[in-house]
Amino acid sequence: MRHLFGAVVILLTAAILSADTFAADLRAGRAKAQAVCQTCHGLDGRSSIAGSPNLSGQNEDYIIIQLKAYRAGKRQHPQMSIIAQALSDDDIDNVAKWYSSIRITVELPE
Ligand code: HEC
Repeated sequence: MRHLFGAVVILLTAAILSADTFAADLRAGRAKAQAVCQTCHGLDGRSSIAGSPNLSGQNEDYIIIQLKAYRAGKRQHPQMSIIAQALSDDDIDNVAKWYSSIRITVELPE
């Protein structure tokens, strides 16, 4: 019984810590998006400039893969290649978390 209690405490602590980490990553992602990405992609991931894609609700892994491809020079674009150079792995994870966590709804045309 004591072991079981210990296991439950450990599991709860792990759950709380990972929820905290998620919230912290999300805050860091929001701050980075606000400082760097907002001009073109919007803080809400709705692009404000023709030619820059919407990011809200995009798959998290897809965002990570594309940003790493720009950074590594495997995908090239005059602006994104430069922007990605300045992003750390943590920055990439955080902004991907931010944009993928924005919930969107879609409506098909009549
Ligand atoms: C100066 C404008 C500008 C800024 C600032 C900018 N982007 Fe972009 N972004 C673009 C454009 C334009 C594209 C389309 C590039 C292409 O065709 O490859 C793009 C493409 C992307 C893509 C690929 C999307 C897809 O559908 O494949 C991702 C992911 C992305 N940007 C994330 C970011 C993040 C995260 C930031 C901030 C750290 C950022 N961008 C800042 C203009 C910008």
